[in-house]
Amino acid sequence: MYNDKKVVFSGVQPSGNLTIGNYLGAIRNFSAFSDEYHCYYCVVDMHAITVRQNPAELRRRTYETLALYMACGLDPDKNTLFIQSHVPQHAELGWILDCYTMFGELSRMTQFKDKSAKNADNINAGLFTYPALMAADILLYQTELVPVGIDQKQHLELARDIANRFNQVYGETFVVPEGYIPREGAKICSLQDPTKKMSKSDTNENAVVRILDTKDDIIRKFKRAVTDSDNRIIFAEDKPGISNLLTIYSCMTGKTIEEAQAQFNGMGYGDFKIAVGETVADGLAPVREEFARLMADKAYLEQIMKQGAEEAYRNARRTMSKVRRKIGFTEIKH
Ligand code: TRP
Repeated sequence: MYNDKKVVFSGVQPSGNLTIGNYLGAIRNFSAFSDEYHCYYCVVDMHAITVRQNPAELRRRTYETLALYMACGLDPDKNTLFIQSHVPQHAELGWILDCYTMFGELSRMTQFKDKSAKNADNINAGLFTYPALMAADILLYQTELVPVGIDQKQHLELARDIANRFNQVYGETFVVPEGYIPREGAKICSLQDPTKKMSKSDTNENAVVRILDTKDDIIRKFKRAVTDSDNRIIFAEDKPGISNLLTIYSCMTGKTIEEAQAQFNGMGYGDFKIAVGETVADGLAPVREEFARLMADKAYLEQIMKQGAEEAYRNARRTMSKVRRKIGFTEIKH
């Protein structure tokens, strides 16, 4: 809306290490958007404090998440990479949208129900209004497209409802965003229970391969991957373990499933698992190296944070002044 490019916005929590599922299904493909869209990728530290955080760890993970985005190929000169709390309009619009979000709507959010069950001693108001802050993140930049996992679909629907409600009362103010949920084909499953999605918060470390795992860890996890009692390497519904490994291999190499099947035809499961593990470990090596290089240069990361925050701030300000005017806040000249 503010320049001729449409806007993509996505947020990631600075918690937990991202998995190869996040990499293959999402982050790796984000850089392709930047030709056509103005892309904002935001590390949502304000969302993170809805559950109790260790301050030193939160700070470290914020740097790490930014470095990881960059190591996965997001160029800070082609994308706006920034930290949520550096742009105060997120909190400002978050509060305003709280007043246009209904108690009943927030009560129905499955993530709120899950997280309250897990954090029974800290069911705070922020955890409850989390989706209104997420709506603010998105609506501040007049976002058209929001790449998210299927687990965020309900929050995105609510963001659309809030935008529509606001627009109905005050006239066109926000672009109503669409979700962009990667197709099922790119779904990477747990190595221990291949009928379930690989989750970064899985408590069984053998189930999850993380982008920053060492080569040895990656190969060990693949060696332990659950398969079945058959010995054929084919993609089939009744062979979720083998199918998952073939999917991972094919995403990693760009080969089709058929090509992968042909290549591994006749190989034993043990060797197959090692071959997939090595391919993943080698494919991620450049990401790991770039990540280490970036983490060793905090000053550079801080410069990127600053550049991103300034860019985001400029655009967020325009939406905010419109919102303030519409709802009847007074303005003073500075
Ligand atoms: N809630 C998202 C998650 O947990 C993170 C997030 C916050 C987000 N704000 C966003 C995602 C805006 C997309 C757009 O994954």
